[in-house]
Amino acid sequence: MAEQLQTRPLGGALGLEVTGVDLSRPIADEVFDEIKENFWRNPVLVFRDQDLDAHSLAALGRRFGPLQLHVLVDYRHEEVPEVSWLTNVKKDGSVDEVGYKRATSWHSDGTFEEHPPAVAILHAKEIPSRGGGTLFCNMIQAYETLPDETRERIRGLTGRHLYAAGRGGNETVPLKDYQKGTLPEVHHPVVRTHPESGRKMLYVNDIHTFGFVELDGEEGETLLNGLLDHATRDEFVYHHRWSHGDVVIWDERATMHRGAGDYAPTERRIMLRTISFGERPE
Ligand code: OGA
Ligand code: MN
Repeated sequence: MAEQLQTRPLGGALGLEVTGVDLSRPIADEVFDEIKENFWRNPVLVFRDQDLDAHSLAALGRRFGPLQLHVLVDYRHEEVPEVSWLTNVKKDGSVDEVGYKRATSWHSDGTFEEHPPAVAILHAKEIPSRGGGTLFCNMIQAYETLPDETRERIRGLTGRHLYAAGRGGNETVPLKDYQKGTLPEVHHPVVRTHPESGRKMLYVNDIHTFGFVELDGEEGETLLNGLLDHATRDEFVYHHRWSHGDVVIWDERATMHRGAGDYAPTERRIMLRTISFGERPE
């Protein structure tokens, strides 16, 4: 019998729980099509009680597109380099301070790359007893609720992106020295059109966006801060509180996310992640 998907909204802005599928096994095309149809309408999908290893996570990620090799080489999975660890535990068991506080500012992953990600998948393996959630905001709603004059003002603007160069950039993992010169500034449109849904979305973030090509200094900074503050208002946010075995799939173009970071560093928090490419922003 075909698997029966059920869905339940988790938040007003985004977040949809999906039940009735085991993501560790190959997914029938018609079931995957149904997942994708929900996904283009709701850019954060939550699946409970899953058990994927790095291989099955990579196989799931490949259904959405070719996988990215993440720039943070130390966190790549030993057997499957397209999968990364998000962990606050070092190999010797001590607290990884960098891993603990990474990514607690609002961002979309890899926007400092010429060809940024489309879809990310995170799978909880060990979670702290309290806190340690992940927050997501909806960049389609953020765009659609901007005042008309702001939408007019940002039409045709180009964002400047560079690894960790934005106002929240100090909350992330530093690159290795040899990588610094290899990742030059890149430019992406501030308003993108979603290739599947055709909806417009705001494409800037706190960690990697540091200004606009067309606007200098203070004017650009004030506009960027205003856009980011607007996008992360409570009504556009879903706070995911992890349970062991959760898989969350999000659209990197239509959302920003951040780690809540509000847990005891000595409690283990270990996740597996993979990221798929999509189209290039135009
Ligand atoms: C990241 C990230 C969120 C989290 O490492 O890129 O977004 O909740 N982490 O760990
Ligand atoms: Mn991230």
